[in-house]
Amino acid sequence: MKSDTLVIETENLTRTFKNVVAVDGLDLQIQQGEIFGLVGPDGSGKTTTIRLLTAIMDPTEGWARVAGFDTVRQPEPIKQRIGYMAQRFNLYGDLSVWENLNFFADVFEMAGQERQERIERLLNFARLNEFRDRRAAHLSGGMQKKLALACTLIHTPQIIYLDEPTTGVDPVSRREFWDILTELHLQGITLVISTPYMDEAERCSRVGLMYEGQLIVCDSPENVKKMMRGDLIALWPSDMRQAQVLLAGLDGVLEVQTYGDQLRLFVDDEVQTRVRIKTTLSAAQIDILEMRSTRPRMEEAFISLVQRRRAEEEHAEVVT
Ligand SMILES: Nc1ncnc2c1ncn2[C@@H]1O[C@H](COP(=O)(O)OP(=O)(O)O)[C@@H](O)[C@H]1O
Ligand SMILES: [Mg+2]
Repeated sequence: MKSDTLVIETENLTRTFKNVVAVDGLDLQIQQGEIFGLVGPDGSGKTTTIRLLTAIMDPTEGWARVAGFDTVRQPEPIKQRIGYMAQRFNLYGDLSVWENLNFFADVFEMAGQERQERIERLLNFARLNEFRDRRAAHLSGGMQKKLALACTLIHTPQIIYLDEPTTGVDPVSRREFWDILTELHLQGITLVISTPYMDEAERCSRVGLMYEGQLIVCDSPENVKKMMRGDLIALWPSDMRQAQVLLAGLDGVLEVQTYGDQLRLFVDDEVQTRVRIKTTLSAAQIDILEMRSTRPRMEEAFISLVQRRRAEEEHAEVVT
């Protein structure tokens, strides 16, 4: 695997729609062979970013270079080198698995021996060989995603963009899909993937957190987790709402996040704060069903970073 080769580079990459800044001043560098994850809430600009990097859409400001080519002036050589699995990809439901692959082989003008070999290889690779004659519409959700990926790979791209490829797919199929992505990664292919799933973000070499069109963090999963302040306590109170309000204002509590039936508290001194938590809750007659220290995951790290960004914005509004 080659490294230190820049395959994607952007400067001030910006895309505006009327009054929405969908992508806002992105400075991004992705090396060959990376699995780069884009995460962020709905509407934060992930799909628009991917579309800009596939040379499908032009930026309103700034530029992007992909495999050394400018996305606005040289879209054709880029399209030959990339595969793009859109958030709503188009398979032909009436066509069989095999026919779908042939359709995409036509689109990329593949011919002869190489074409048939490639299709057979992809059928095996995507574990779809025994379903080759089944209509795409009759495949399970997970198998449809694998077929879409196989179609994306038909012309042996160097870079693959996957826009939420596993959203709505069951956990077993998600894992299998990632096994396939790992094989592509081992072949040295660069993967750019957007996902709402934090366990998937954790498998990327680097992740970029998007928020309102901006990349607010871009680092390895390990370093993102290190950005967390203080220690983390997981707490199951008998009254979530009231406990949340009481503890948010408590000395030593930096931040409170809710997570299902538990509160996740970032604290600056765990031992002292635990005592204060117990005293405060017991005074309000709230029981502690369980309390334990825990390590932050990507999920907490991202929620925390987004909350911090929101707080900064509110502060800026008050000041100006
Ligand atoms: N073609 C478009 N026309 C107008 N607004 C758009 C268009 N595409 C995206 N947007 C807006 O840009 C923002 C970012 O959207 P998108 O890139 O789809 O985010 P994500 O993929 O993270 O959900 C949203 O506010 C969305 O409504
Ligand atoms: Mg999207």
